[in-house]
Amino acid sequence: MSRINLAVLVVLGLLLVTAKQSTQMSLKNPTSYIETSNCKVAFLRLGLVLTSDNNEKALRDSGLFEPDSENPHADIAGRRFHVGTLNKTPIMYVKTGTHSVNVATAVQTLLLKFHISGIIFFGSSGSLDKDILMPGDVAVPKAVAFTGVWEWKKFRSESKGKLVFGDFNYPENGENLLGTAEHQKIQLFTTGEEPKEVFWLPISSSWYEAATEELKDLELKKCHSGTCLPGTPKVVFGSKASTSDFYVKNKAYGDFLVEKFNASTADSASASVALTSLSNEKIFVVFQGVSNVAGGKSSNSGIKYIASYNAFLAATKFINSIPTPRLACE
Ligand SMILES: *[C@@H]1O[C@H](CO)[C@@H](O)[C@H](O)[C@H]1NC(C)=O
Repeated sequence: MSRINLAVLVVLGLLLVTAKQSTQMSLKNPTSYIETSNCKVAFLRLGLVLTSDNNEKALRDSGLFEPDSENPHADIAGRRFHVGTLNKTPIMYVKTGTHSVNVATAVQTLLLKFHISGIIFFGSSGSLDKDILMPGDVAVPKAVAFTGVWEWKKFRSESKGKLVFGDFNYPENGENLLGTAEHQKIQLFTTGEEPKEVFWLPISSSWYEAATEELKDLELKKCHSGTCLPGTPKVVFGSKASTSDFYVKNKAYGDFLVEKFNASTADSASASVALTSLSNEKIFVVFQGVSNVAGGKSSNSGIKYIASYNAFLAATKFINSIPTPRLACE
């Protein structure tokens, strides 16, 4: 082989190696690739977190999400992290699935692997009080708590929990072998501090306040493919939200949550988003589309979709009001 041919082969080989490396890098971490390759396009994205197929369908149907043409997504731990813009604002979104472990895992991954300035969560919840929230309404809570963390006391234990099962015997209340349960606080871990025991997890006040300003005149969707809400849907600010790994459709337990905690909604995701964001010292906000009322009749698929869509509308209006934070160029 001549010397020139050999040189050509070496150059070709080098090119192949380089091409392979850059493809691998871009697939692994699209945002850091975009953000470190050129200072002019360095910015932080907003993290949009949603739980269900129905939530994602609302986002896709809106036509407002535009996937990034070069790096539309990255797959980590079975989750797909989508890169793009929502009505021109740079975002990443992830569908987490429900229940605290799934939600927390996906939010933590999003925060660890990508440059995210804050978390906007939207999902569905059940109303615990139909006088405050009806299906199709959007709740913007001020605080959320895990209300499924219990110490379950012994039958006839000296110290009684506030949830007394005998109070719910039917048709008459009395004693019940299930005894009582006491709701517990949860540990909040943050960098450089001892873990704290907390019950209410406050929504970041600056974003909560921005949301109350931005969404006060938001017009929500009333009908979807032939199904309409009975009234005009509204955005309700300042409620308290309860989260547990069981979804509350039971009216008696819903009434207990209202009475003991003044909670207006129940879901199985919001407090996970809150705890993970607080642990990582990231700003966050929660939008819940009400899909049913605890103890009420089950909503049809049209109403459930409207609930998702209205929560999505609230999240989008909020996102579009946030200026895109840029990384400083050195
Ligand atoms: C209970 O919640 C409702 C609705 O969010 C609120 O208007 C009311 O002030 C709360 N009551 C107390 C005692 O916190």
